[in-house]
Formats: sequence, structure tokens, C-alpha cells
Amino acid sequence: MTHIGTRSSLALTRRQRRLRASPAIRALVQETRLAPDMFVLPLFVCEGEGVRREVPSMPGVFNLSVDEAVREASAAKADGIKAVLLFGLPDHKDEVGSSAYDPQAPVQSAVRALKRETPDVLVITDVCLCEYTDHGHCGILVGDQIANDPTVEQLVRAAVSHAAAGADIVAPSDMMDGRVGAIRRELDERGFENTAIMSYAAKYCSAFYGPFRDAAASAPKFGDRRSHQMDPANAREALREVEQDLEEGADIVMVKPAVPYLDVIRRVKDAFGHPTAAYHVSGEYAMLKAAARNGWIDERRAMLETLTAIRRAGADIIITYYAREAARALA
Ligand code: PBG
Repeated sequence: MTHIGTRSSLALTRRQRRLRASPAIRALVQETRLAPDMFVLPLFVCEGEGVRREVPSMPGVFNLSVDEAVREASAAKADGIKAVLLFGLPDHKDEVGSSAYDPQAPVQSAVRALKRETPDVLVITDVCLCEYTDHGHCGILVGDQIANDPTVEQLVRAAVSHAAAGADIVAPSDMMDGRVGAIRRELDERGFENTAIMSYAAKYCSAFYGPFRDAAASAPKFGDRRSHQMDPANAREALREVEQDLEEGADIVMVKPAVPYLDVIRRVKDAFGHPTAAYHVSGEYAMLKAAARNGWIDERRAMLETLTAIRRAGADIIITYYAREAARALA
């Protein structure tokens, strides 16, 4: 019979396992922590009343009318969530996306209702045209091309209307050039100098937005978004995008999606040190949900591991459909 010695036989100067020996010591040396107040919960606001329609590819995510969005934000607040990001699903869409700056449209109405009912919940609004154009593109088309500068004019109108409704932060997600500076100038001009800008600075042309386009009915009717969103192969270019948005006045910069771009999050944080957000997008969420529903992964652990990784990579702010579930898991 082999004798297993209990006396140490290796003269190790450092045993890494000592610091993993108990829950208490593991907690003492834990480098990365999650807290509900770093999460932002996206909400999809539609027309009507009493509407709460689940998005098929995103279990647990709903199209909500304004009254239901207010209920969702209060419930999220009870879970410890302090910020929401609003997307609009207007009934009316046209060539130039005019509902994007209609003061009576879902987003503007929701901002007013949220600021009235849950004033301490931070309200961030997505600024883009893709949910508002009948062709589903992020901007004004000239032929089959998205014209940058006319699109920026429309985005500025949208951002101003969100600020006028009371949004705390506007978040341009369109990837047109010069939109951050143009929005900043117009906000200041109109007395909204305290409205912050969170720019989707490094937004990649990603397959992981698929479920979102179901949720927001914003898939382009032809073509794709390669003429403005970034090539997944490029990281140095992300630094140039971020640098330019910061120069134009962005307060917070975002990398999107999150997990496939952890290296980009790290480089952006290290290079600029500005508040950095990461968007754990619809497809990233849907993959975890689908695997969990099949019993293939432990959802709670996979969720927390994923969010921890995003945080560890350098994100200060995590935008995620898991916000409420994660907050509850951390409680
Ligand atoms: C554009 C926008 C998109 C997302 C956020 N803002 C979609 C797109 O660029 O096609 C994606 C978010 C997600 O997938 O969760 N308004």
C-alpha cells in the first residue's frame, strides 16, 4: 500500500492555495466585486397602456408601455438598480425617423413619467434613428448610402428632445462622425449643459445584436451596418473612436458588445481612464438564457462570472438585461 505523507515534502516559498482555503479568506483577497449600482437596465418602451409583451428571443425582457416601464423601473429600484436605458418603439416610422424627436413619442413620454414617479432613478436614452426609420437604417439615406451630416442633424434633434423631457444622460448609438460634438453644442446652447453624454464610442458591427432587432423592430430592410459600425477585427481603431468622442465632449465612453471585446474594454480604460461602460448585448444575454433553459449551464453562476469578467476587464458601468437578476443574486 502506498503511503501518502502528511508532512510537507515540497519546500515551497509560496503556496497559492493558502488564499483559497475558506470563503472568508477568498473574500478577503477578492479583486473584483459587483454591485447593483454599476448596472444599467435597458427598457423597450412602446405605445399604448398596460402593455407587457415578452420578446421571444430574450426571455425576461419585455416591450413595455409607459405605465409598465414605470412599474419595471420601480421594481428594478427595489432590487438596487439605479439607472435605466430607454429604447423607443414608435408606431409611426418614416424615411427620416421623425418620431425620434416627437415630444409625445414613447421615449420622451417615458422620461417624463419616470422623472415624475421615480425621480432618483437615472434615466439614460438611446439616441439613434434605426428604431424610427421605415427602412431600419441608422440614418438618412441618399440612394443606398447613409448620409452622415444630415443624420447628425436628426440625432441632435432627438437628443435635445430627450433632454427637454428630463433625461439625465443621452447615449448616441448611431456611430455617425461628429455627433457627440454636435449634440454637446446644441445641448449647451439650449441650457442643457448638465445633461451628460454617454457615447457608444466603440460599437462593433456585431452578430450579437440579433435579438435586439427583434425587440426594437429595427433590423435594416436591406444591407447592413458595416459603413458605420466597427470591424470586429480592429482594436487600435477603437482607441481612435474613443479619443475623438472624448475630444468632442463625451462624459462616458462605451464599448459594445462586451464579452467578445474584453481586450478593447481594457485598452480603452488603460489609455484614457475615463468612466467606461460596457454593453452586454442582447445576443450575449440570449445565449446564456438559451443554454440555461436547456439545462446546459448553471445560469446564476454563468451570469455572475460573465458580469465579473466585464468588470475585471475595466468596465465601470455594465449595461445588461441581467441587471435585476444579478442585483438579486448579489443581495
Ligand atoms: C441602435 C442600437 C442597437 C443596440 C443598441 N442600440 C442595435 C444596432 O446597432 O443594430 C443593440 C443592443 C443589443 O443588442 O442589446 N439603436
